[in-house]
Order: sequence, then C-alpha cells, then structure tokens
Amino acid sequence: MSRFPKGFLWGGAIAANQAEGAYLEDGKGLAISDVLTSGVLSQPDETIDPDKFYPSHEAIDFYHRYQEDLQYMEEMGFKAFRTSISWARIFPTGEEAEPNEKGLQFYDDLFAEMLKRGMEPVVTLSHYETPYALVQKYNGWESRELIGLFEKYCSTVFERYKDKVSYWMTFNEINNMHTIPFAAGAVILDETDENEKLRVIYQASHNMFVASARVNKLCHEIMPEAQIGCMLSLSAVYPNTCKPEDIFGAMSLRRRSLFFSDVMLRGKYPSYANRIFEEYGIQLEMDENDLAEIAAYPSDYLGFSYYRSTTYKDGMKILGNTGGIIGEKNPYLDETPWGWQIDPLGLRYVCNELYDRYQKPLFIVENGMGSNDEVTEDNKIHDDYRIDYTKKHLVEMAEALKDGVPIMGYTYWGPIDIVSAGTGEMKKRYGFVYVDKDNAGNGSLKRLKKDSFYWYQEVIATNGESLF
Ligand code: BG6
Repeated sequence: MSRFPKGFLWGGAIAANQAEGAYLEDGKGLAISDVLTSGVLSQPDETIDPDKFYPSHEAIDFYHRYQEDLQYMEEMGFKAFRTSISWARIFPTGEEAEPNEKGLQFYDDLFAEMLKRGMEPVVTLSHYETPYALVQKYNGWESRELIGLFEKYCSTVFERYKDKVSYWMTFNEINNMHTIPFAAGAVILDETDENEKLRVIYQASHNMFVASARVNKLCHEIMPEAQIGCMLSLSAVYPNTCKPEDIFGAMSLRRRSLFFSDVMLRGKYPSYANRIFEEYGIQLEMDENDLAEIAAYPSDYLGFSYYRSTTYKDGMKILGNTGGIIGEKNPYLDETPWGWQIDPLGLRYVCNELYDRYQKPLFIVENGMGSNDEVTEDNKIHDDYRIDYTKKHLVEMAEALKDGVPIMGYTYWGPIDIVSAGTGEMKKRYGFVYVDKDNAGNGSLKRLKKDSFYWYQEVIATNGESLF
C-alpha cells in the first residue's frame, strides 16, 4: 500500500504579489505589497517614491512568463499549483462598480494553463495584497465596509472561475494579524497604545471572520463541489522546559494563533477569548447576525504553512508569535541561514495537534527552505541542503498520515525563486527553479533548474516512495 493516498495533491505554492510583477499593468491598482520596500515587516510608504526600489513591482515577472514557469512545474509532475488572485487586478481600488476585465482574463488564462498542464489550481483569495486604496479610505479590515467589498470581489471570481478552480482559501495566514497586521489585515495601528492596537487587531479579525463565513457560503452556492479552507501560519510552539509556567505559557501563546482556526473551523469564538478581551478591555462591534453566520458557514479544511518551531520561555510576552520571530533558540535544532530553526518532527506534531483539535482535513500549503544559492561554473545549483530539509519534512508528513491525519496535499513554498515576503529579498531563495535576479533588482530573470528540481520530480513520480 502506498504511503501517500491516491490523488494526493503534490505541488508548489506562490503568491501573486511575490511573483507576478506588472504591478500597474492592464488596469491593476496598487496593492498593499506595492508600497513596501523591504517586505511585510517594513513600514509602508504613503505613495510610491520613484527613487526607491519596490520588489513587488517586477518581482520575477510571472505575469508575462507564467507559461514557461508552469512548464517547469509540469515537468516536475505537479498535481496542484497554489497562487493568489491579486484583488487589485480585479477591483483596482476595491470599490469599482465593474471588475477589470483584463485582470479577470489574466487569471482565466493562468488557470487554464495550469489545467492544461495537469495541475489543480489552489487559489488564495487574499495573500497580503488588499487594494491599497482600502487602507487609505477605511484603514482596511478595521471597517465593516470591507466585508461587502470582499464578497463582491469573491463572487466575481467564483462566477468567473467556477469551472476551473475547486480549491479555495480565504485569507493567507490570518493569524499573522498579530505580527504583521498591515499585510494580513490592511490595517495601520497606533503603536503607542497597546490596548487600542489589540482592539483593532481583533475587530479587523472579526470582520474577516464574517467575510469568510459569507464567502464560504457563496462558494458552496456557486460551486457545490468546491472546497474552501482557512489558512494559518502554524509552525510548532514548544515549552522551553517542563516548568509549569513554560508549559502554560506555551499553550496560551499557541491559543493566540489557534483562536483564528477555532473561530473559522468550529464556527464560534472559543471560551478563552473572553478572558483575553476582558484583560485588554476589548469590546468587539458586531451585527446581530454575525455569530450565526460564523456558526453556519465554517471553513471546509485547514490550510497551513509550516516552516519551523518556536520555544516559549516563561516571561516572554504573549501576543501572537506564530513560529520563530520571538522565542528561545532550541538547542536541539539546526537553523537555516536566515535563522529559521529546522524542525521536521514539528510538522508531524502540528499535523496531529491540529487534527486532534478539529477533525477536519489538513492541507500543507506552505513549507520550504529559504537559503542562499550559488550558481556553479557549469551553470548548476547544488542545493543538497534544500533537498535534505524537504525530504525530512516529507518523511514526517508520511508519518502523520500513518498516524491517521487526513492530509489533502503538500504545496512546497516557492518552487521557483520569488520575492521574500518577510524581507523583500530575492537572495532568500526557496525554489527548485532558480531565477537570475538579485536584491537590488539586477539580473536577466533567466530560469535555471536546481538539483532539487530533479529530486522533487522523482518524489512526485513515485508518489513519495523515493523518499524511503
Ligand atoms: C509565509 C507567507 O509566511 O511564509 C509567504 O505566506 C512567505 O508569503 C513565506 O513568502 C516565507 O516567508 P519569507 O519571509 O521567507 O518569504
């Protein structure tokens, strides 16, 4: 018997803003990612400064090169390819009466190309790319106005792509509202007032929960066979020692992330949320039907990213770290050149943790290794470190399947080098395919297969058996 189920969705994942470029082409409006010079942790610019370099503006030019790029993915045997729709290509300011036909056509062609090459499109509706105009006018998801605007955008793309796309996700890493609220929720916060900051984070999250519920409903009405998931960043959280305070604190920290999937998968606010709201004096504004809608239309599956683990030590501030930004170094683990601790067993742990909690299918929609790559004289890239990282994680994924966890698929993050979300760098490469471009934007954009390309190709061809 094969270790991986028949029809397992092997593939890769990217996001529109990190790959497409063409940032104002064919009627696209500015998205939040377009005003960031060094990734989602940097401060947004109010307007585009012509003297600055913005990585998303050209990215890897996937907008014009997707056919060639998908050819590489087909060669690797991908069964699924995850990307996002850039909302600002469809509704440039988020509020137009009619969608931008050229934007719609682009994704029509892109999804058709995927299907032609044997890949299921897996589509994120919002991956750090809310139209920037909605930040300026409403402070993003802090306002309920965005619920209706998002519904309109989603119903437009559902109607348009209903015959092409069967796997959807609402908000990328929604639990990153705590760490990168501008990217995740298009909100700008008052950093001087902790309680107010948290109030806005939770209010925006609430509005996104209502939007998700409505969009889940719409999705099922328009495409009865389709599945729509939520998406969280769920790297593992461990206690530093067996000191009870470390253990309780680790659970509390984890709950700041699982709060989001608790609401979106179980359809109700978890009881522990009341205490958080009380402690920070948070009063959420809700309409009378909100909770009923959230209860009636939960997500079908849990998509998540897994890269590393975090170690919680008593005394650390508990907000919503999702895996590594704060935390003690774990002495048992190695790390990537970007300091991300490598923890394959953590993936098995998280799969079990999540399935125990939700009993809904899981989809590992991001996992991968960001590293420096050297092109050798004979034009090759020997990225054995990436092969090693990925292999170990896939072996643990197989163990999780054996543990009885239903996993729909695995889409490796960044099967082709793209712009880093965190830092805006090109140098932090994840790809099985190399892209000739540097941090300053120089390079021919030529693509080159790395050693890992052939390795992953074999993994897919053998439905995972080559791993053992
Ligand atoms: C996830 C995001 O957090 O991690 C991606 O969904 C991102 O957009 C990925 O690219 C890896 O992070 P980074 O910062 O290395 O690009």
